This record gives sequence, C-alpha cells and structure tokens, in this order.
Amino acid sequence: MVSMDELVSLCKRRGFIFQGSDIYGGLNGFWDYGPVGVELKRRIKDAWWKFMVLERENVVGVDTAIIAHPRTWVASGHVESFSDPMVDCKRCKKRFRADELEGKNCPECGGELTEARQFNLMFETHVGPVKDEASIAYLRPETCQSIFTQFKNVLNVSRQKLPFGIAQIGKAFRNEINPRNFIFRTREFEQMEMEFFVRPEEDKKWFEYWLEERLNWFEEIGIAKGKTRIRYHEQHELAHYAKMCADIEFEMPFGWAELEGIAHRSDYDLSQHAKFSGKDLSYFDSEKNEHVIPFVIETSVGVDRTLLALLVDAYHEEEVRGEKRVVLKLKPSMAPFQAAVFPLSSKLAEPAAKLEMDLRKKFITDYDDVGSIGKRYRRHDEIGTPFCITYDFDSESDHKVTVRERDTMLQERIEIDRAKDYLTEKFNK
Ligand code: GAP
Repeated sequence: MVSMDELVSLCKRRGFIFQGSDIYGGLNGFWDYGPVGVELKRRIKDAWWKFMVLERENVVGVDTAIIAHPRTWVASGHVESFSDPMVDCKRCKKRFRADELEGKNCPECGGELTEARQFNLMFETHVGPVKDEASIAYLRPETCQSIFTQFKNVLNVSRQKLPFGIAQIGKAFRNEINPRNFIFRTREFEQMEMEFFVRPEEDKKWFEYWLEERLNWFEEIGIAKGKTRIRYHEQHELAHYAKMCADIEFEMPFGWAELEGIAHRSDYDLSQHAKFSGKDLSYFDSEKNEHVIPFVIETSVGVDRTLLALLVDAYHEEEVRGEKRVVLKLKPSMAPFQAAVFPLSSKLAEPAAKLEMDLRKKFITDYDDVGSIGKRYRRHDEIGTPFCITYDFDSESDHKVTVRERDTMLQERIEIDRAKDYLTEKFNK
C-alpha cells in the first residue's frame, strides 16, 4: 500500500493538495486544493449529488449559511457536549486528546500529563462590530443543523411526503486538538450530508436501506465493496444525538478509518429546535390525520476523506521496461481530466491546441506541451488521466492522432474528426 509520505509528495508535486498558508510555514489542520485536486473534488461532489439528489424524487437539496443563529448550537447540544477530553504535557507543553493516548505519560517526551478537561471543538467568531458575549457565533461543526431548522420551509415548498430527504454539501469547521494524517482529520473540511425524515415506526428499515445505498455509492465511484467495511458503534461511543450509528470504514495507510457515518438521530434535532425556537416542527400526515415528529436517518460523509480513500485505492506502482511507473487507476469518470492532448513538437502546437479546444466543449481536458512525450505520459499517469492524445507530424497528412490508454498503455490511431465520438463511446461504457 502507498505510504502517506508518498501520497503527500505526489499531491504536492502534481497539484492536488498543498499545505495551507504554505509560504508562511503552513497552518496546522488547513489544506488548499490545487488545479488537479479541485477537479477531483468536484467529481466526488457531483457524483454524490447525482446519486443522492438528482436521481431520486424524494430527496431535495439546499445550500445554507455557514454561520447560523447561535441558539441553533445550544439547541443541538453542541455548546454543551461537542467536546473532546484534552490533556497537556507539563514538561514539553504539547496537547493531546486524552481518549487517543495509550499510557499515562506524554507520548513525545515521557513527561507528566495534566488532568483531562473538556475542550469544545467549535470555532467562535463575532457577528457585527461589537465583540461581546452577545455577538458570539460559531462556524458550523456539521452542515446538517440548518437542514433541521429549515425543515418546515423546505417541506412547504417541495410538497414532499414522508419519507423524504434533504441534502447539502458544504464546509464544516472543528478546532480539532490534534489534526493529523494529511486531509483525514483537519480543522476545515467539507461534508456531504443527507437527513432522511421517516415515520418513527419505519426507522430500522430506512437505516438498513441507507447503509446499503451508501456502500453502493462508494462502489459506483470506484471503491469496491470488499474494500469497505461496516462498524456499528457501541452504546458508549454514540454521539449525543444518536440512537444508533454505523461507520463505513476504509483501510488507509495508517489503519482502518471512518469515511462516513450513518446515524439514527431519532426526533432529537427537530424536537430540540421546536423547543428552543417555540415553532411547530411537526409533520401533518394527512392519510393518518395526525401530527408526527419524524425520525431522522442521516448519512454524513467527508469529501476530503473520500478523496483520500480514492487516492489510496487508485495508487499503483508498476515496472515498465525497468522503470517505475506510478499510475492512479481512478475510474475514468472520476479522473480530474478525462483526456490530455500533446503536440509532438512545438511546431504542431496550433492544430493540437485547436483539437484540444474542440474537445473542451464536451470533455474536461488538459493541454500539455512541456517535456518529452514520455514525461508527459508519466505526468498524466500520476494524475489518472485515462486518455492521452498525441498530435504528430503524420497527423498533418493522415488526419489521425494516437490515443494511448492509461491502464493498458495500448495505443490506437484514430481519425481526428472521430476524437469526440471515440471519447464519448469510451466514457459511456
Ligand atoms: N452530522 C453528523 C456528523 O457530522 P461526524 O461523524 O462527526 O458526524 C461525519 O462527521 C463525517 O465528516 C465523518 O465521517 C468524516 O468523513 C467527516 N469529518 C468529520 N470530522 C472531520 C475532520 N476533522 N476532518 C475531515 N473530515 C471530517
């Protein structure tokens, strides 16, 4: 399996991910996506949106503000309970999460540790010009709370009936005590969450349904079912809102780790917000002629963790003619670029660039004229581009180009005029 160091280095070298604030020495827990990484991130979010929202008639989307009324977080329980136990080393002053330590002494220097105290993970800010207790607000630690607070508005406009879901993709922030493992645990990240509202007596059925569906989604983006596993939470591990929870885990270079949580949140959130806002958040079931507070089955997955899993899964090293070839065998539809066009020589730049501009109307492509053709293949293997198209001197007379396929490295000569249809056929396979 690829090591984290190899992956971090590949990500920087090829423009997937850079350390945030790099020129200032970095800021722990923050990462920036580069021109290649941003494309892969978009593929993940688009695939999720299509699978969870566009292909279903009973799930609708929203895009809510990052900062919500501070009472939201009192009602949700985050002000009271969203904390991790923290200890300090009395000697070297380093901070750790108490629940992640094995022994009683500092893992860095062996020094004595302080008593554990609770540290709230929400980032605080102030809204408006006055900085006092009354202006405190929080950067959301999860995207779902505004789905609950907007439940009635969405219900009214979407004409949905139970069961139905509300989905959202967006940034979340947690002042993690120990950000680590590259983009796995960061202080700013992106979540893709869906809250599915059901009649209370149908909770188990929908929990099982969504767990299966989410495994299907990972398979659809290229992570085979055998590579994920389900882990049910023990009673003592459950988050303060959850009645039941199952994680979808994947084997990272640092061990099996959570990509997604499927949680049974019961009527906890809607009831809490109804209580704190004084607004009625019940659902009127016209067939049964009764008001119910729906139960919620939540699916919550990190974009960044999914991206890391895709990179780990796709990374391959092969030996080709005595040389190491690094290739990202991403599913072609998930690749940052679908095709790259190379002019064999700078003399052929004009027609090659014209072909690439033409392909851009339908595909996500890259134009690459730097270095030898071998170097360009290596560059695109490393970012997972499934097809590389070379425009050479013969192209001028035979009106054909050479297409090289990433995984087999087989080359094929095709008519320039057929390039679009050729790629369409390949992507529709
Ligand atoms: N609304 C439920 C919720 O937020 P969670 O298990 O705390 O549940 C859901 O988070 C998902 O969000 C995780 O499975 C993970 O993919 C992602 N996530 C959570 N904290 C993260 C962090 N510090 N860095 C990166 N991703 C994180």
